[in-house]
Amino acid sequence: MRISATVLLAAAAATLTSATRSSKRGLVFVPSEKHPTDNQIWVGGNSDLTWYYNYQVAPSPAYSNRTQSEFEFVPMLWSPTTTFLSQVKSMISGGRNITHILTYNEPDGTSSTGGSNVQPAVAAANWISQVEPLRKLGVKTGAPAVTGSPSGFTWLQMFFDACHSQGTNCTADFFPVHWYGNFEGLASHVGQVAGTYQNKSIWITEYALNNQSLSDTQSFYNTSAEYFDRISYIGRYSYFGSFRSDVSNVGPNAAMLTQKGQLTDIGSWYLGGAATNNIPSPSSFGVKVVPGIGAMVVAFVAELCVL
Ligand SMILES: *[C@@H]1O[C@H](CO)[C@@H](O)[C@H](O)[C@H]1NC(C)=O
Ligand SMILES: *[C@@H]1O[C@H](CO)[C@@H](O)[C@H](O)[C@H]1NC(C)=O
Ligand SMILES: *[C@@H]1O[C@H](CO)[C@@H](O)[C@H](O)[C@H]1NC(C)=O
Ligand SMILES: *[C@@H]1O[C@H](CO)[C@@H](O)[C@H](O)[C@H]1NC(C)=O
Ligand SMILES: *[C@@H]1O[C@H](CO)[C@@H](O)[C@H](O)[C@H]1NC(C)=O
Ligand SMILES: *[C@@H]1O[C@H](CO)[C@@H](O)[C@H](O)[C@H]1NC(C)=O
Repeated sequence: MRISATVLLAAAAATLTSATRSSKRGLVFVPSEKHPTDNQIWVGGNSDLTWYYNYQVAPSPAYSNRTQSEFEFVPMLWSPTTTFLSQVKSMISGGRNITHILTYNEPDGTSSTGGSNVQPAVAAANWISQVEPLRKLGVKTGAPAVTGSPSGFTWLQMFFDACHSQGTNCTADFFPVHWYGNFEGLASHVGQVAGTYQNKSIWITEYALNNQSLSDTQSFYNTSAEYFDRISYIGRYSYFGSFRSDVSNVGPNAAMLTQKGQLTDIGSWYLGGAATNNIPSPSSFGVKVVPGIGAMVVAFVAELCVL
C-alpha cells in the first residue's frame, strides 16, 4: 500500500500533538505564599491542566474566580474529620458540580513525610460515615491515597477488611497512586495496583523522579507522561512539582519552576508547551550560563549573594 508523504506528515504531527497535550493532566497545588503570582502560572496562557486538588476540602482562594467546569476542583478528606460530608454537600448544593473526591493522604506514612498516619480501622469507620453517603449521591470516590511503598498495599488491605468487620463494603471507584523513583519502578507499581484492584481506574496523584540529574529527570517525565496517556485505565495524573526549584523537597531538577519562578522544561511540557531551556537551581542565588560554553553551568551569580 502506498501512503502519501502528506498523510505521513499529518500522522506525525498528530502523534506529536497528542504526546505533549493531555486531558488527564491536573495540578497538585502547592500554593506559594512568598510569590503568589506563581499560583496563576498553572492556569495561565494555554495551560493543559483541567483539574486540581490541594489536600483540602475547600477550593483554593487563588482559583476562586475559576468555575468548576473551567478548572475542576477535587476535594480531599486528608485525615478523618466529621465535617467532610456536610462541607462537600454544601458545595454541591451551592452549585459546584463535585464529581470526584480523594481520601486520606498517605495514611501509612508519618507526618515528617506529609503522611496522615491513620489506623486502617479508624479510617474505615470515618469512610463509612463521611464517604459512603457521597457515593450514594453519585460522587466517585478515590481509595485512600497510600504511599508507593509495600506498606501501602498492607494498609489498604487492612482498611477494606476493617470495613467488612464493621459490616460494610467500602467501595472505591478509583485508586490513587503516589510514586517517587524511576520509571521501571513506577510502571511495575502501577501494574501491581491494577492487578490487586482489578477493573478500577487508577489516578497517579503524586509522582516524580526525585533528587536525580536534570537529563534523567526529564527522560523520566517524558516516558511516564507517554505511558499515562497511553494506558486507558489511568484516568488522571498530577505531577509533583508545582513549586520553585530552591524550595523543592524532591530535588531541584523535579520542580516545574526555577528559583526565579520561570517554567522549567518539565513545567512547560506539563502545561502543553515547548521547552524553555530554563535550568532549575537548588539555590535562590541562581546559576549563570556563560555564552560560548553552551549549557554548561559554570557559576553561581555573585551579584545575587545578598543573603
Ligand atoms: C483570577 O484572579 C487572579 C488573582 O487572584 C488573577 O491573576 C487572574 O487573572 C484572574 N483570572 C481571571 C480569569 O479572571
Ligand atoms: C457535572 O459534571 C459532569 C462531568 O463533567 C457532567 O457529566 C454533569 O452533567 C455535570 N452535572 C451538572 C449538574 O452540571
Ligand atoms: C459486600 O460485597 C459482597 C461481594 O460483592 C456481597 O456478597 C456482600 O453482601 C456485601 N456486603 C454488604 C454489607 O453490602
Ligand atoms: C474484570 O473484568 C473482566 C472483563 O470484564 C472480568 O472477566 C473480571 O471478572 C473482572 N474482575 C473483577 C475482579 O471484577
Ligand atoms: C522530552 O520530550 C520533549 C518533547 O515533548 C523533547 O523535546 C525532549 O527532547 C525530550 N527529552 C528527553 C530527555 O527525552
Ligand atoms: C532531595 O532533595 C531535597 C532538597 O531538594 C532534600 O531535602 C532531600 O533530603 C533529598 N532527598 C534525598 C533522598 O536525598
